[in-house]
Amino acid sequence: MGGPIPAEALEAVRLATDIVQLVGEYVRLERRGKNYVGLCPFHAEREPSFTVSPDKQIFYCFGCGVGGNVFKFLMLLENLTFPEAVHKLAERAGIALPRFAGAGEEPKSRPEEEAWEVNALARDFFRQCLKRPEGREAREYLERRGISSYTQELFQLGYAPPGWDNLAQFLSSRGCPVKLAVDLGLLAVGERGRPYDRFRHRLIFPICNAQGRVVGFGARVLDESQPKYLNTPETPVFSKGKVLFGLHLAKGAIREKGYAIIMEGYMDVITAHQHGISNAVASLGTSLTQDQARLLSRYTRRVVIAYDSDAAGVAATVRGLDLLQQEGFSVRVAVIPQGKDPDEFIRHQGRERWNELVERSLTLLDYKLDWAVKKGEGLSAALAQVLPNLAAMEGELERQEAIKHVAARLSVSWEAVKDALRRYSAEAGKKWAKSDKNVKRVHTIVENTPLNAELLLVRLLLRYPEYLPLVQQELPGFSPHDPDLSRIYFFLCRQGNPAGWMNELGERGQDLLGYLLVEDLPLEDPARVVRDLIANLRQRARRLERERLIQELAEAERLGDEGRVQRVLSRLQELLPTGRGEN
Ligand code: GTP
Ligand code: MN
Repeated sequence: MGGPIPAEALEAVRLATDIVQLVGEYVRLERRGKNYVGLCPFHAEREPSFTVSPDKQIFYCFGCGVGGNVFKFLMLLENLTFPEAVHKLAERAGIALPRFAGAGEEPKSRPEEEAWEVNALARDFFRQCLKRPEGREAREYLERRGISSYTQELFQLGYAPPGWDNLAQFLSSRGCPVKLAVDLGLLAVGERGRPYDRFRHRLIFPICNAQGRVVGFGARVLDESQPKYLNTPETPVFSKGKVLFGLHLAKGAIREKGYAIIMEGYMDVITAHQHGISNAVASLGTSLTQDQARLLSRYTRRVVIAYDSDAAGVAATVRGLDLLQQEGFSVRVAVIPQGKDPDEFIRHQGRERWNELVERSLTLLDYKLDWAVKKGEGLSAALAQVLPNLAAMEGELERQEAIKHVAARLSVSWEAVKDALRRYSAEAGKKWAKSDKNVKRVHTIVENTPLNAELLLVRLLLRYPEYLPLVQQELPGFSPHDPDLSRIYFFLCRQGNPAGWMNELGERGQDLLGYLLVEDLPLEDPARVVRDLIANLRQRARRLERERLIQELAEAERLGDEGRVQRVLSRLQELLPTGRGEN
């Protein structure tokens, strides 16, 4: 990927990329005054606090406190390194980045890179095996299940041949260390410490991250034997609860259609895509995790759950529903008739019928009510099911409507539901309060800094750089206590474009600069505010110096150093408050 990217090239790429346009590809933005706002892609929210400034070419979220320029946005959103983000935007803008013929140095690559490469190697091996004579049984199996060759290509399906060391041999012939293959779960280690192929005589489903890198594999038997699936165990690049199968293929369609369909299994998603239902992903048999919900929230906040309608499927569905609502998703449930899974339904009924099913999907509340009623649960059990959802509703009007609806559906009085809800909200309801660790990151920095004058001064200078000379003259050696704020002030003195400085700041510094820049600070009389701040900061400096001297005085007295006592006393005299409101 070349050496370090020169600053001018960085700036060229940044200037060629409009932040509103870039963000707009991922987030629905609305104009609000000078800025654009939308739902933050980095945390769950229902009211837009994600703000993009076209003038300053930066973004900042008032909800979670994350901010930065185009590079930071892409890094966070696509999980890229800085150079990766720069290259991607350069390509987008048609800018050729200079390549450095330096001493053949590789840029510091991510540790995952090697793992992805080995996994890709294994995937290619499995694909070859599927195409070779030994793959006949697997090819026939796929044919029986109606998977076209195009779809096999799209999902890069493969076949692991029988035998204990086919992959092991192949990988070692390609120079892959055995330990790495073991760490990646491609090889398992036997009792006598001998590594052998984990997947044998199985159909292979490569599992990719959202960027299409192979992070793991699912492997299915070709008959009815057990276990039906073997998956890659937890590895440094694979964690079952953190991926959604098919997301790299579905993300575009998810954005386009405005919602995602979450299914349970590999085969469901593969069949869905084959039939043009390309916004389908799978949670791989586990109930949906918070990580998966967050991953998905980068692309949409609307989902339709289409799990198998067997008992396990229903329980998983209910858990998934609650979690998604907690994460701020609007959730519907497609109920598949006759105990079928999406794979069978789509294959037998076709895409049109599937779309009807999705259109008829139930709201979360109705789904739970249906389920409770069908199960013949007692009234209180049924109520208990839906109370969390009622409590989590944000609009009072919406909640009142829902309460009426629940009452009617369960044939109880409106008061009974309301009463139960009141009791619930008082107790368990608190748990539903969002607990996002990231939220208000910068706000805490800002609120906790006792040096609001410093913060305000820097913010003001960002808006009115013409006062910089005055500040430099009146506060020589001014250096804010907060290290990031101090760097921002340093850049200010060096001049240039704030959105460009972002690249030289750490993550916290970028968030902070985003915060300082995003909202204008229109003042009637900026000159007066600047002078007030200067006076304030000078006073503070004097007070701090005084405090330091008083300590030094005590120290000198303790040591009986009379000369030093006198010197400190006369310094203190000079610093005495003037009685003009100074402190
Ligand atoms: P088919 O039976 O071929 O249609 O597969 P499916 O993808 O429809 O599988 P199913 O609905 O039975 O299960 C859903 C998902 O759960 C699968 O795609 C796997 O991710 C996971 N799963 C199912 N069975 C097993 C198993 O035996 N072991 C493991 N580890 N995962 C399984
Ligand atoms: Mn199935």
